[in-house]
Amino acid sequence: MPAAPAMKFQGSDNYVATQDLMLAVNAAITLKRPLLVKGEPGTGKTMLAEEVSAALGLPLLQWHVKSTTKAQQGLYEYDAVSRLRDSQLADDESVQKVRNISNYIVKGVLWQAFTSETPVALLIDEIDKADIEFPNDLLRELDRMEFYVYETRELVKAKHRPVVFITSNNEKELPDAFLRRCFFHYIKFPDADTMKSIVDVHFPGLKKELLTAAMKTFYDVRNLPGLKKKPSTSELLDWLKLLVAEDIPLEALQSKDEKVAVPPLVGALLKNEQDVTLFEKLVFMQRHNR
Ligand SMILES: Nc1ncnc2c1ncn2[C@@H]1O[C@H](COP(=O)(O)OP(=O)(O)OP(=O)(O)O)[C@@H](O)[C@H]1O
Ligand SMILES: [Mg+2]
Repeated sequence: MPAAPAMKFQGSDNYVATQDLMLAVNAAITLKRPLLVKGEPGTGKTMLAEEVSAALGLPLLQWHVKSTTKAQQGLYEYDAVSRLRDSQLADDESVQKVRNISNYIVKGVLWQAFTSETPVALLIDEIDKADIEFPNDLLRELDRMEFYVYETRELVKAKHRPVVFITSNNEKELPDAFLRRCFFHYIKFPDADTMKSIVDVHFPGLKKELLTAAMKTFYDVRNLPGLKKKPSTSELLDWLKLLVAEDIPLEALQSKDEKVAVPPLVGALLKNEQDVTLFEKLVFMQRHNR
């Protein structure tokens, strides 16, 4: 297998990558191991794979995992139903087709990645959604970069080792044997400065005062003790988009007495009624504690 050309990720115009994130990406590429990325929802895990692959000029093959996804589907599936149906047709073409079983092998994402003529990137998104067998079943394929197709007795071997990204939301623990084969990075929740850069990427012309006020409210909401679901980067971006679109005045975000006020369009930030109630209670208490 020819070695992938020397690649280095240096961030991109659309994506703010911290120094340690860039280090992790490049470490995984050097080690030729999958990069396992964890972090709160909406902290840019999926987007990282898209941006790194774009920056390195690699096409990205994506595999979005669901609770019902099986590892085998990423390799190939044998379409027995079509074969049976075709076998009931009498024309020459169908007879020929049915004879060759490889006509009914449907290639999965891993197969496509392995047999691509040029190097590619591969994203296995939300691996923790599937059952515990899923990561275990992919150990050998990700390690050796090959698998065997029993139906056609062929060995599919990677022409180029793909750059692999695996994301997890921590809904399930991943098996140790799987972890051993990955390079791990946790995307920490962005600090205020990083968050400002992220906002800047999405809203280059945003007024400074509005940004400062919105960020203060955002971190106040996020730091509320006892929240069930803390708002994250993508929620802040949604909220800012609304503030801009609705032309919300700056005063609506700043209460005169420096106490917290219920922010407008709070539904973009808080996603369940307990959290909204909690927040309203806090505002109410602070108003009456003067
Ligand atoms: N570092 C960043 N730079 C620029 N935009 C970002 C960054 N992090 C997050 N975003 C924004 O947040 C959105 C959500 O990111 P993404 O879908 O990658 O999150 P995720 O971690 O995969 O979330 P989930 O776990 O819910 O799938 C992106 O579409 C992007 O607009
Ligand atoms: Mg995602």
